[in-house]
Amino acid sequence: MHYSHKKLFLFFLSCIVLIFNYNSSGFVTATSQLGLNYGLLGDNLPPPSDVINLFKSIGITKIRIFDPNTEVLNALRGHKDIGVTVGVKDQDLAALAAGEEAVNSWFATNIEPYLADVNITFITVGNEVIPGPMGPQVLPAVQSLTNLVKSKSLPITVTTVVAMSNLGQSYPPSTGMFTAQAREQLTPVLNFLSQTSTPIFVNIYPYLAYASDPVNIHLDYAISKSEAVVVQDGPLGYSNLFDAMFDTFAWAMEKEGVKDLPMVVSETGWPSAGNGDLTTPDIAATYNGNFLQHVVSGKGTPKRPNSAIQGFIFATFNENQKPAGTEQNFGLYNPVDMKPIYKLF
Ligand SMILES: *[C@@H]1O[C@H](CO)[C@@H](O)[C@H](O)[C@H]1NC(C)=O
Repeated sequence: MHYSHKKLFLFFLSCIVLIFNYNSSGFVTATSQLGLNYGLLGDNLPPPSDVINLFKSIGITKIRIFDPNTEVLNALRGHKDIGVTVGVKDQDLAALAAGEEAVNSWFATNIEPYLADVNITFITVGNEVIPGPMGPQVLPAVQSLTNLVKSKSLPITVTTVVAMSNLGQSYPPSTGMFTAQAREQLTPVLNFLSQTSTPIFVNIYPYLAYASDPVNIHLDYAISKSEAVVVQDGPLGYSNLFDAMFDTFAWAMEKEGVKDLPMVVSETGWPSAGNGDLTTPDIAATYNGNFLQHVVSGKGTPKRPNSAIQGFIFATFNENQKPAGTEQNFGLYNPVDMKPIYKLF
């Protein structure tokens, strides 16, 4: 083969490898890079073993659960191809922040029993508790748990999940800055994570921004449907709100002296019902489909063009024990029959 042809061939080959991974059942899927949140706030949810079969059938290899639920973790035994992010319950945070003994016993009860046959990759300490009254508990708990997994030489990464409400200034992205409370509570955590380049998990919901101002924010921009630049921010052009929100957070971190800290999108999604014309299965399918494409493309954002987006869609199922309205309708699947609410995969 001619050298340049060979190079071209290898290039295509690597693209194919990048886009398609084989899951354990051997069929080709583009979804192996996408994570799914697996929430449990419903009284009509299928048994965890059925849900794991669903993940496997659609090629999902990364999931996030909000607490160390024993039923789910037991069902995951033997499915090591699925990387699991496990949350600490917010009500356990105070104890974990108070002392190493509590951290040791929490770990011995909730994580240790599963390590032999469950692939636990991340532990998240606190879900959107920064900014807030429990915010100061996050750093000591993250530190103690990090020390513990290090002392056991475990391949588990410890971090926290934060919301966009940490941002004060946010438009355009380069003006992004944290609120005073966020600077107090979040910056020390970011500095700690930076020492080991541990990603901060950030929940990014263009839906919430759009729903708060549907007159001024264009739907196509909010659901990443258009390629045209809508917001020009110095040299950086934004064609979608997701990238703008992601980069706003990155800029805000940079203003705190935290440069290039990896960000994982712990949650994003769009409800398929609950708010009239703004929330239809079609719109939700478009937003989530475009997010999936973003992840699969390996492309970053205008500010971080070389860092592929890593993230989790919220959520697997509609959850009927969440507050009524849109919050119950973020799911990709109907819990009762496990049928997709719209076609995504
Ligand atoms: C555990 O999960 C991670 C993340 O999905 C994956 O990269 C790794 O290969 C998995 N480990 C095994 C043993 O399959």
